[in-house]
Amino acid sequence: MILVTGAAGFIGFSVARRLLDRGTAVIGLDSLSPYYDPRLKRARLAQLEGRNGFVFHQVDLADRAAAGAVLEQHPEIEGIVHLAAQAGVRHSLTQPFDYVDANVTGHLVVLEACRRLKALKHLVYASTSSVYGANRKLPFSVEDRVEQPVSLYAATKLADEMMTKAYVRLFGFPATALRFFTVYGPWGRPDMSAFLFTRAILAGEPIEVFNGGDMERDFTYIDDIVAGVVAALDRPPAQTGDEPPHRTYNLGNHRRVPLMRFIETIEQACGRKAEIVFKPMQLGDVQATYSDIEASTRDLGYHPTTDIEQGIPNFVAWYREYYEA
Ligand SMILES: NC(=O)c1ccc[n+]([C@@H]2O[C@H](COP(=O)([O-])OP(=O)(O)OC[C@H]3O[C@@H](n4cnc5c(N)ncnc54)[C@H](O)[C@@H]3O)[C@@H](O)[C@H]2O)c1
Repeated sequence: MILVTGAAGFIGFSVARRLLDRGTAVIGLDSLSPYYDPRLKRARLAQLEGRNGFVFHQVDLADRAAAGAVLEQHPEIEGIVHLAAQAGVRHSLTQPFDYVDANVTGHLVVLEACRRLKALKHLVYASTSSVYGANRKLPFSVEDRVEQPVSLYAATKLADEMMTKAYVRLFGFPATALRFFTVYGPWGRPDMSAFLFTRAILAGEPIEVFNGGDMERDFTYIDDIVAGVVAALDRPPAQTGDEPPHRTYNLGNHRRVPLMRFIETIEQACGRKAEIVFKPMQLGDVQATYSDIEASTRDLGYHPTTDIEQGIPNFVAWYREYYEA
């Protein structure tokens, strides 16, 4: 029995669906936070509810009494995929406390549960490429030092990694941090570029492009991320010598894609040109992300297979079917 937090979210829903497909029972947990349209979250959940082996609890992880009461009902939990969070770099400039509530308090509630769950074999949790912050060396490697966050979002995710390492050292349960790189695909997040650009282009509205378009992202397709998450879940790290059973991996596509190339690919998939409004670099953003996935490939057998030429048409097809059909 696997607990998936953030099960109504983009990645959590996709992971829960994959686990159910292979016959693994899933407890889904999500607060259905109003950060973006909860109707999309409910529509994702509707795909899971009613399936064999799925139960769902709507609860806010930052409400430790309520979340604790739900988790106590499930002593059979063997694995946790903790994906619930307040995501997004830009929102952290205006709503900073959302990040501390969901990503720090909420994360601690999960760690406390890990400490108590007797059957637990592994905690897998979401971190982010944003932890590399102002680092200039590319590609970003899990061996690199990460102490220059440029957003509160990144700082809370770094805090999650530190808190988890402390709990693993103290209480000995195995845990794996996964640093995701710009995930996109069907059922994706409405605040992210693939979604924002597709929506605007199809509606004939202008798109905002930051830093004059001089940005690069390692765009990673959802199916590759799901494969990486499930591979990680199935491989709890062992204690090796003095090293506690905690590991950190990048899950990216290992490609540097210029933002303007990404936009062209969306234009082609939509069959329309974008009207572009160039804007300066946004506070909290980084110019480039690019993943070193050597460790993930070696230890998890992680091999991303979907480039934007294939992934973007899949996303646009889903978007049109979902919003226009
Ligand atoms: N999508 C990406 O490109 C990306 C990149 C790096 C890291 N991440 C991380 O991956 C994880 C999943 O991201 P996503 O893209 O699926 O985001 P998402 O916003 O679609 O999903 C997160 C889910 O968590 C839920 N949630 C938020 N606060 C909660 C709380 N306090 N208690 C219970 N549920 C709560 C939300 O309702 C939402 O459904 C997050 O931890 C995010 O920070 C995502």
